[in-house]
Amino acid sequence: MPATVICGLQWGDEGKGKATDLLADRVSMVVRYQGGDNAGHTVVIGDEVFKLHLVPSGVLHPHITPIIGPGVVVNPAKLISEMAMLNERGISTDKLRVSGAAHVIMPYHVALDGARESAAADGAIGTTKRGIGPAYGDRASRAGIRMGDLLEPELLRSRLTAALAEKNAVLQHVYGAAAFEIEGLHSEAIQWGKALRPHIADTTLLVQNGLAAGEHILLEGAQGTLLDLDHGTYPYVTSSNPVAGGATTGGGIGPLQIDQVIGVLKAYSTRVGSGPLPTELDDEVGEHLVSVGKEFGTTTGRRRRCGWLDLVPLRHAARLNSATSVMLNKLDILSGLPELKICVAYRVDGRESDDWPMDAAVLERAEPVYEIFPGWTEDLRAATSVEGLPDAARRYMATIEQRTGVPITIVSVGPERNQTLVRRGAGSAAVHRAA
Ligand code: IMP
Repeated sequence: MPATVICGLQWGDEGKGKATDLLADRVSMVVRYQGGDNAGHTVVIGDEVFKLHLVPSGVLHPHITPIIGPGVVVNPAKLISEMAMLNERGISTDKLRVSGAAHVIMPYHVALDGARESAAADGAIGTTKRGIGPAYGDRASRAGIRMGDLLEPELLRSRLTAALAEKNAVLQHVYGAAAFEIEGLHSEAIQWGKALRPHIADTTLLVQNGLAAGEHILLEGAQGTLLDLDHGTYPYVTSSNPVAGGATTGGGIGPLQIDQVIGVLKAYSTRVGSGPLPTELDDEVGEHLVSVGKEFGTTTGRRRRCGWLDLVPLRHAARLNSATSVMLNKLDILSGLPELKICVAYRVDGRESDDWPMDAAVLERAEPVYEIFPGWTEDLRAATSVEGLPDAARRYMATIEQRTGVPITIVSVGPERNQTLVRRGAGSAAVHRAA
């Protein structure tokens, strides 16, 4: 009954798509469990680069059933166009299934997200403006529209009428924005339902039947632990639970049905949007990370803020997700930096601690305490084993393992599928190049 969760240990953009791709041969279903088209997963296969926002990256493998679970918020127009893009590139989406219980991101959610962000000015969260927060807000206040509702024209009309009475009042009178008109929205939503009808299903049943039949299921998180609504740097977070625990409610699986959690980590820190990033670098090292690491958002194209690796939130994330192993990505980007720093504690109001502060305001005042490590000059992209990595790179990895107590079992040294070094078995010395 194997089920594996892949989740981000930082602020998102850790390279989770590559982890899914690597395990794809061994799984029959890949389930997205939270978030929406705010996510961007880039998968490189040979000369082809796929940028996916909603469809689980397992879609690139014909034997996999890609599933969008009940915990995801779905913009149907975006889903339909992403499926069309995949079909045009020869990738079938016939097997894709979307939970009828997943909530719909309506155009008024997108409008509200944008209006709130503009009105907040300096206090803006820096959202992706994809309507994520307003859609999850409606879900929690039981005013949402679910994917299954798109198949029921009369029910849909009454839900939309109720929603618009409130949303239009807010849009017009609070934000001075344009109102939505019921007829246009209703007929558009019916068209979405028609296009997606073959794909809307009870995905929890599919997942449970798959587990009962002994299939291996992968649950794919979006964003990262530090953007988690409950455990991240609130309010500078997303509106869902990217942590591994979110896979249970959002994917339709019990906690004891999960037997592996792979935490995905980038060799340095990045963050998009507002909120504290204690190790942020505004110097030439930060510039190196942005340019060599190509740190621009997949969804919005925004330049990511970059900084040194921070072990304080990482220790918190490793425990919170009960990570059984770590995938370390983009180690090659650090090549050429003369020295490397790793943050091991914070000094806040004169006191030093390696505990992660629960409050973003405390984190804003945190000064990082660094340990300094020698860098390396070698290009890692041609490495064929972890043993073949420079001593300094292996020392950097060992520090992460010691401080988190979790073994690094996969190391990525380049964007290609084959630039991935896999250690067979936790702590095992048997290392080989991934197929
Ligand atoms: P929202 O999810 O669009 O509401 O944005 C909330 C915060 O999460 C903002 O700081 C976004 O930049 C950030 N965010 C959302 N999705 C991603 C992602 O896939 N990668 C990195 N940051 C993200």
